[in-house]
Amino acid sequence: MSTLHIVDHPLVTHKLSIMRNKKTGSKDFRELLDEIAMLMGYELTRDLPLEEVSIETPLCKMKAKMVAGRKLAIVPILRAGLGMVDGLRRLVPVAKVGHIGLYRDPATHKPVEYYCKLPTDVQERLVILVDPMLATGGSAVDALTKLKEHGCTNIRFMCLVAAPEGVKAVQEAHPDVDIYTAALDEKLNDHAYIVPGLGDAGDRIFGTL
Ligand code: PRP
Ligand code: URA
Repeated sequence: MSTLHIVDHPLVTHKLSIMRNKKTGSKDFRELLDEIAMLMGYELTRDLPLEEVSIETPLCKMKAKMVAGRKLAIVPILRAGLGMVDGLRRLVPVAKVGHIGLYRDPATHKPVEYYCKLPTDVQERLVILVDPMLATGGSAVDALTKLKEHGCTNIRFMCLVAAPEGVKAVQEAHPDVDIYTAALDEKLNDHAYIVPGLGDAGDRIFGTL
């Protein structure tokens, strides 16, 4: 079974609380999501292996430690996942970025795919799939299946707010994928929105409320 990592650093929790507030506007919401993505990325990459390389400081030669060969890919689920890409890219500027487009059908709450473009060597990379909201889990489960169809074997999923139902769905369908979230909320409502949640993440990021 995969591990659920709750990244509850005080700064992350504080920034998330501002995002949850309905009075917080689109600009602040976007900036906070970007900051949290970077802070969470720091935790998610904590176990990246290091290797020694020979360098020369102004004083002498030394064996310096650097992140070992493993390459990364960041894959946002469109639209809302886009808000987490730049924060992660600041940490790992050489990461490639793929995109998976899914929207939830308003009536069935099931994901509908409309786009997929991944780096050609994605299967050789550690893939960080990002989406702020893990609600029923349908979108994350389908996106993870898509990544595996492209040969990915090393995937982590990062979100901002998760519902217990979504965590269960991802863990059952993809027990090899660890989940990183800033908060585990109480439940879903009748419209499959996370409660207390923060509303519709895509609408709040892009101002389409
Ligand atoms: C939201 C969110 C996730 C999905 C989560 O996207 O960004 O992708 O819903 O719900 P689930 O876990 O029940 O699948 P939405 O479909 O609203 O599309 P958008 O990002 O384009 O607004
Ligand atoms: N998508 C969102 O943006 N918010 C939710 O609470 C659930 C799905």
